[in-house]
Amino acid sequence: MDNVIDFINVNRDRYIDELKALLAIPSVSALPEHKDDVRRCADWCADEMRRIGLQNVGLFETPGNPIVYGDWLGASGAPTILFYGHYDVQPVDPLNLWDSPPFEATVRDGEIYARGAADDKGQVFMHLKAIEAYLKQGGRLPVNLKIILEGEEEVGSENLDEFIRGHKNELKADVVVISDSGMFARGVPSICYGLRGLVYFQIDLRGSSTDLHSGSFGGAVANPGFVLSQMISQMKDRSGRIKIPGFYDDVVALQDEERQAWASLPFNEKKYKKDFGIPKLFGETGYTTLERTWVRPTLEVNGLLSGFTGEGAKTVLPAVAMAKISMRLVPNQEPNKIADLFQKYVEEIAPKTVQLKVTRMHGGKPWMTSYDNPYVQAAGRAIEKGFGRTPIFTREGGSIPVVSTFQEELGLPSVLFGVGLPDENAHAPNEKLDLSNFHNGIIASAHLYDEIGRR
Ligand code: BES
Ligand code: MN
Ligand code: MN
Repeated sequence: MDNVIDFINVNRDRYIDELKALLAIPSVSALPEHKDDVRRCADWCADEMRRIGLQNVGLFETPGNPIVYGDWLGASGAPTILFYGHYDVQPVDPLNLWDSPPFEATVRDGEIYARGAADDKGQVFMHLKAIEAYLKQGGRLPVNLKIILEGEEEVGSENLDEFIRGHKNELKADVVVISDSGMFARGVPSICYGLRGLVYFQIDLRGSSTDLHSGSFGGAVANPGFVLSQMISQMKDRSGRIKIPGFYDDVVALQDEERQAWASLPFNEKKYKKDFGIPKLFGETGYTTLERTWVRPTLEVNGLLSGFTGEGAKTVLPAVAMAKISMRLVPNQEPNKIADLFQKYVEEIAPKTVQLKVTRMHGGKPWMTSYDNPYVQAAGRAIEKGFGRTPIFTREGGSIPVVSTFQEELGLPSVLFGVGLPDENAHAPNEKLDLSNFHNGIIASAHLYDEIGRR
């Protein structure tokens, strides 16, 4: 173990150069023009996995982007970790808000800036470097390891469930390890034991066959922009409660134990507002900020489009309006059931003055595990060794839909071992990763394999 940690410390700078090469590949899964880059990134990961000594490395083709697989199964009698991560990234727009080019990783003040630095290339790479340290130092790992890297996480993992269902035997393991989430705050490492689920919709309204002169027609013809905002305003009330009938039926109530534990977490609401430029917080009455994002469902407008949005003024009555709307779900809400309730409600509140089109997009189930799970506890010890501080247990508001698939299809618990920080701008301009968390994360990952290997 000491050799392994020494190796990691000695190679600290090389890791950063290699990570820069990975971050240079614009593997944006949402944009068709990056299709080849996404594949190039899969190849890069496969080459790297071969280079560090993993075996049976290759790409599994899917109707979408390839899944990279590799394993090392030489620890007979020891448990098997199934590691999951994603090599695709979010689009970079708005590009003009980046202080350095998103695909030319740049180090400033101990942070590496690039799209994918935190979500999720940097965190995947952390594990590859821990594996490399074991295999280059002693030629073996303390656990068996199977790795899958997905190229479609940011677009809803449409092909992953089928891959998992079709390879149940090959993916047999004891525990899933994922580093695709955050730590609670700088200097406060954490283990995440719950994620929210998601359902995502697009709503299109049409009020006329073409845009109309708002003087000649305004007042006589419904304005889809207006109608859409009226519909949206009927989805949530002023106290933050979602008005879709039946929406809360399956929500598991917040437990007193969690409420008490979270009340003592070092969460500073003032700093939160200041960090993100929020004038005043808003959320469901009766819940704290952490409770609102971790255990309460929400409905959000992700995008809104109608009419003239250029500079200056144009008197037009838009023909169409569009909104992207998603709901974050919590245990035990069922994405399909919630999607049906939402669709029914939207159809009910849409007036006859517009044509309505409702499109259901991707989704995923919420997930939660018990933090006294022995693997979760092993991860806690590993984090403590890597970061020199006992982790706290948190839930998160984001979604990783495959986590519930691992549970349901393979019967596997997941350990969410994330080192991103809340202010590292995932999905936003100037995404970054703290390099000391990256380094400590490599050490913690090495300890995690060791801890799990002892079981
Ligand atoms: N890494 C995130 C998920 C995440 C974010 C976990 C914050 C914990 C905290 C992941 O890459 C992501 O962005 N997921 C999407 C899921 C969607 C595309 C199905 C999300 O949460 O919006
Ligand atoms: Mn991610
Ligand atoms: Mn993401």
